[in-house]
Parts: sequence; structure tokens; C-alpha cells
Amino acid sequence: MKKILTIIGSPSKTSINKLLSDCSSNFLKNRSDNMEFESLWLKDVNLPIFSVDLELAGYPNELKEILDKIKSADGVIFASPENNSTITVALKNLLDWLSRIDMTYLDSKKVLILGTSTGRGGAGKSTEFLSKLVGFGKGELISTFNLPSFNRTFDRDTLDFINEEDKNRFEITMNKFNDSF
Ligand SMILES: Cc1cc2nc3c(=O)[nH]c(=O)nc-3n(C[C@H](O)[C@H](O)[C@H](O)COP(=O)(O)O)c2cc1C
Repeated sequence: MKKILTIIGSPSKTSINKLLSDCSSNFLKNRSDNMEFESLWLKDVNLPIFSVDLELAGYPNELKEILDKIKSADGVIFASPENNSTITVALKNLLDWLSRIDMTYLDSKKVLILGTSTGRGGAGKSTEFLSKLVGFGKGELISTFNLPSFNRTFDRDTLDFINEEDKNRFEITMNKFNDSF
């Protein structure tokens, strides 16, 4: 069994990136019965904003639990929103903490980055930034996928794409990730 950990970089209950990540796990579940899924949604994570002062007092238990989840996974899927051209504060904070407790926290895991936004850029800049951090954490970036203009391109009820072209791009990305195991 291959374990896939999905990290949803949004702190919002109404996250559109959570919907995109659900679409990706549905796709992989249909493709393979050799994968199990766990998700870490940053709305449920309560790490304080990183500071060396807090670090000196010791790493939070929640951080150690998250590191264990990553270490026990074979693959990691990030579903990352874009705020002011970069990743959310919540995701950056988590990755800052992780890089301090273990510089190579992604430990050669296969990584896929998904991102969507309501704007035309489709969270592309946040994906670009996150791709660099994945490299610093020693993850193996397999592929990325960005969906622009979410409200016009994704059907929230069926968790599916409205345009064939987006659907095709998504399937190519997901197959690449699936075939990497
Ligand atoms: C503070 C803030 C900054 C944002 N900046 C961007 C941006 O730079 N590019 C973009 O495409 N969308 C931007 N957006 C729109 C978000 O992509 C949109 O709110 C999206 O729903 C966030 O994803 P989520 O629902 O998964 O949290 C911004 C939204 C907020 C609240």
C-alpha cells in the first residue's frame, strides 16, 4: 500500500483548494487500489507563528506529529491557494517549523503540487514558490497543476472540471504522479 498525505494549504473552511484536492484523491482512488489517503488541512492546525524564542522552548507536539505523518507517507500532495502571489501564511509557517525540526523533512517523497484561485493566474505564482521550498525540503517534485478562474471552471457539486481542456491537463498530471510509484 502506498500512503499519500494531502496537505491543504488553506486555513478556510470553504477552501476551493480542498475541493481540488478531493478531486485528485477521487481520481487516484479510481485509478489504483494500492493507495491510501490521509489529509492535513491547515484550518485544523494550531501552530504558533514561528520564532526562535518559541523554538528554544521546544518543538510543539503537533509539529512532531505532522513530521511523523510526512515521514510515514510515500507521496505528498499539496493543494495550495495563492495569497498576494505566494502561499498562505499558514502553509509558510508550517514549512518554516518543519525546516527547523528537520531540514530534509520531505525526505525524497514524491510530491505533487495542485493550486487553484478565483483569478486568471490559477495560483501559478504560489505553485512556483512552493516548488522551490519542496526542493529545499528534499522532496522529489513530480508534477504541478494549476486551475484558473475556479468559479467558472470547476463544478463544486460533481467535483469535476467544466472544460475538457482542463480535465485533460489534470489527467495527464495525475497519471504522471500515479506512475511515479
Ligand atoms: C489576502 C488575499 C490575497 C489574495 N491574493 C491572490 C493572488 O495573489 N492571486 C490569486 O490568484 N488570488 C488571490 N486571492 C484569491 C484567492 O486565490 C481565493 O480567495 C481562493 O479562494 C483561496 O483559496 P482557498 O479557498 O483554497 O483558501 C487572494 C485572496 C486573499 C484573501
